[in-house]
Amino acid sequence: MPAVVLVGAQWGDEGKGKATDLLGGEVDYVVRYQGGNNAGHTVVIGDQKYALHLLPTGVLSPEVVPVIGNGVVIDPGVLLAEIDGLLERGISCDRLLISANAHLIMPHHKALDKVTERYLGKARIGTTGRGIGPAYGDKIARMGVRVQDLLDPGILGQKIDVALNEKNQVLTKVYNRRGIDPAKVLEEYLGYAERLKPHIADTSLILNQALDEGKVVLLEGGQGNLLDIDHGTYPFVTSSSPTSGGACIGSGIPPTRLTRVIGILKAYTTRVGSGPFPTELTDEMGDWLRTTGGEYGVTTGRNRRCGWFDAIIARYATRVNGVTDFFLTKLDVLSGLERIPVCVAYDVDGERHEEIPMTQTGFHHAKPIYEEFPGWEEDITEAKSFEDLPKNAQDYVRTLEELSGARISAIGVGPGRDQTLSLRPLI
Ligand code: GDP
Ligand code: IMO
Ligand code: MG
Repeated sequence: MPAVVLVGAQWGDEGKGKATDLLGGEVDYVVRYQGGNNAGHTVVIGDQKYALHLLPTGVLSPEVVPVIGNGVVIDPGVLLAEIDGLLERGISCDRLLISANAHLIMPHHKALDKVTERYLGKARIGTTGRGIGPAYGDKIARMGVRVQDLLDPGILGQKIDVALNEKNQVLTKVYNRRGIDPAKVLEEYLGYAERLKPHIADTSLILNQALDEGKVVLLEGGQGNLLDIDHGTYPFVTSSSPTSGGACIGSGIPPTRLTRVIGILKAYTTRVGSGPFPTELTDEMGDWLRTTGGEYGVTTGRNRRCGWFDAIIARYATRVNGVTDFFLTKLDVLSGLERIPVCVAYDVDGERHEEIPMTQTGFHHAKPIYEEFPGWEEDITEAKSFEDLPKNAQDYVRTLEELSGARISAIGVGPGRDQTLSLRPLI
């Protein structure tokens, strides 16, 4: 009855989509447990490239049942467009299950996300503008609209009225925006209801029954450890819990059933949006990593900020998530560098730190202390096993493993399914 969690170990975009897809052949269910269409998970199969936002990556594996768990916030228009887009490419989403308890992103969430960011000015978070924060805010404030409300037009209408009663005041009086017409929203969402109905299910029950039957469930995280609302670089975070604990809350699978936690770890570091990033390179080296690694946002197209590998944050991910195995991605991107710096500690106001500083102020002041490791010239994108890697690349991997506190069980040497070196089974 394995329930395996796959989490981003840095600031997102580590290659979770590729890793999930790779495990598709070995699992029965793939569950998204938090986040929404702020995520962008890329999968490359042969000459086809897919960018998934709300749909679990398992949708690309015909034997897998993809599940959107209760912890996700769903923009129904975006979900249906994504389903239609895949259908046009010959991929069926008929098997998709959507938790009745998941919350819906409403038009006012999107409007508020954009307008609050504008008001924050320089202090803005750099959100994806998809309404994620306001939707989770309403969930916690007990004002949210849930997927199951789509099944009861009377309740749906009431909930929209209650929400817009307040939010229209905020939009018009605080932010000087136009109010939103509740009748129009109701009509729009009832349209979505028709199409989504067949997919709505008690997913916690289904998943636990599946585990009882010995099926394999893979929980696919969005975002990453340092974007976690509790454990990340608050307030420069997303509004959900991408960490492994969030996988239980967001799926209704209890912690006692989790058997493994796979951390997806990039061989260097990237971040999109605002907030502290100790190893960020704002020079030509940063540009080189961005161009060589293709570090442009899948969801917003923004340039990703790039920097060297940071062992402090990797170790932090091991601690907070209980990582049992790392999947190291994008090692190929580092080929051709003479020397590769790795951050092994921070200097925080003259003091050496080997763990994340306790306060955000400390983290903002953190200056990386680097150790340099010899690089390799060879192209490694055709490597098939760890032994095929040049000695310096092997040593780099072993160093990261030692510093990060969990074994590296798979290595990505390119975006393709077959560009993966397996050191031991992940499931
Ligand atoms: P996710 O959000 O964690 O799923 O990651 P993204 O899809 O946003 O970004 C990861 C990018 O790296 C995608 O373009 C992947 O196709 C690509 N990728 C994943 N693994 C590897 C790898 O090992 N090597 C290279 N060169 N690219 C990779
Ligand atoms: P995947 O799943 C990288 C970032 C945004 C912003 C912050 C808050 O592809 O790894 P939000 O719209 O969530 O309120 O924005 O979080 N962010 C991501 N960064 N990858 C993601 O997803 C992200 N999802 C959100 O850039 O800084
Ligand atoms: Mg991404």
